[in-house]
This record gives sequence, C-alpha cells and structure tokens, in this order.
Amino acid sequence: MKFTDSPVIELPVRDAVLSFQQDNGSLHVGTTVWPCSLVLVKFAERWAPPSNHQPQNPYSDLLDFRAKRAVELGAGCGVAAMGLYLLGLTDVVITDIPAVMPALKRNLKRNKPVLGKNLKHAILHWNKADQIAALSPPYDVVVATDVVYIEETVGPLISTMEAMVKDDGVVLLGYQLRSPEAHKLFWEMCEGVFVIEKVPHQDLHPDYAYEETDVYILRKKKKEN
Ligand SMILES: C[S@@+](CC[C@H](N)C(=O)[O-])C[C@H]1O[C@@H](n2cnc3c(N)ncnc32)[C@H](O)[C@@H]1O
Repeated sequence: MKFTDSPVIELPVRDAVLSFQQDNGSLHVGTTVWPCSLVLVKFAERWAPPSNHQPQNPYSDLLDFRAKRAVELGAGCGVAAMGLYLLGLTDVVITDIPAVMPALKRNLKRNKPVLGKNLKHAILHWNKADQIAALSPPYDVVVATDVVYIEETVGPLISTMEAMVKDDGVVLLGYQLRSPEAHKLFWEMCEGVFVIEKVPHQDLHPDYAYEETDVYILRKKKKEN
C-alpha cells in the first residue's frame, strides 16, 4: 500500500480518533505517515484486551500493556506510539532524529485533547550509545514501523533494538519491503538475534490489511550457556 498524500490522516482507535498532519513534500521521510503504523495499531486494537473480563485470545498476553515500559524507534509523526497509548501502552517514549522532532511535536500537540497529555519524546539516532543509555533501557516493548529502507542503517537499527528490549520483552514491528538490499540484510541479521513470528494476515484488522504490509513479533533468542 502506498501512503496517501492527504495533508491530514485520521486513525480511529476504539472510541477516539487520532489526527496526524503530514508533510509529504519535506526532505524527511519521518514527516509522512506510513501505512505500517496504521496496520500495527489496528492489529493491536483488534486483539488488545479492553478490560480484565475479556476472554483470552492468542494475543491477549502480548497486548496486555499494563505496567509495561515502551519505546518507539524512528517514530516519525508518532502514529504507532499514540495509537498503542490509547490501547493501554501508557508508559511510552517516542523517538526519532532531530530533523523529525518538529513534525512529531506538532502531532503530539494536535492529539493532546485525545491523549490527555503530551507523551514523552526524545532524540534517538540508532546506535548512538549515549542516546540509548540516556533512555534507561531495557524496555518491555519496542515499537517500530516502516524503519527498514536503507541498507546502511540496518546494522545500527538491529543493535538498537537488541539494546533496547528486555530478554523477555518484544519488538512489535510493522514492516513493508522498501529496498531489496535492506530487506535481505535486515532479515539475515534479525535471525541471528531474534525469534521471528509473523502475524498471519487473517489476524490483521480487515480494514487495515494490505498484501504488502506485515506485523512481526520479535523476541530475543535465548543465550546458550
Ligand atoms: C519511513 S519513516 C517511518 C516513520 C514512522 N515510523 C511511520 O511508520 O509513519 C522512517 C523513520 O525512521 C527514522 N530513521 C531513519 N534512520 C534513522 C536513524 N539512523 N536513527 C533514528 N531514526 C531513524 C526516520 O527519521 C523516519 O522517521
């Protein structure tokens, strides 16, 4: 699925509607809302337990966000973190490079009436050890959507994911193939670090499931003694 060039993207999440202002004309890809972020949020909305009294489903433990700390990498306009916040992921810090911060801050402010507060945000350039340390990892949940598109950044991205996620934590990844070289390297490197689970397409939200867009659940491989 291609992104839409409408200047405003709306995303209904349960009984709220998030609204994002994007700027497709800017030099930075992070000022655009990319479809994997919408697909990830709507997948989570479909399966996240709305209360303690809901029947169990295959994803209820994964998406029970109570008492979990989370970080989003390469967040762009912040769609995934804001959407998951509305589904209970309330302790979340949203990160990206400095050039994307104005778009992120603009969208955090825009959604403050829906979110009820300004969510935490921070600069994080992948694999900058001082910036990673400043965020006090590890986290229970690492969120990333549409972040695999340049071969040179694949290594730093995987290292950052590995440093950020707890041994028993998860990476929730919205994914679409953007560059064959980056794709090949990413999945090769991922296999060395993570156990990879692909969410079956029939489990995505029917209105937000596109042939080329996937959700993956990555868990750290257990270290052998
Ligand atoms: C295609 S955009 C996706 C934005 C957002 N996650 C979404 O799905 O709408 C890729 C994002 O990764 C960020 N990014 C790229 N390289 C990065 C790096 N080395 N360190 C941190 N963020 C990076 C970009 O700034 C951009 O926001």
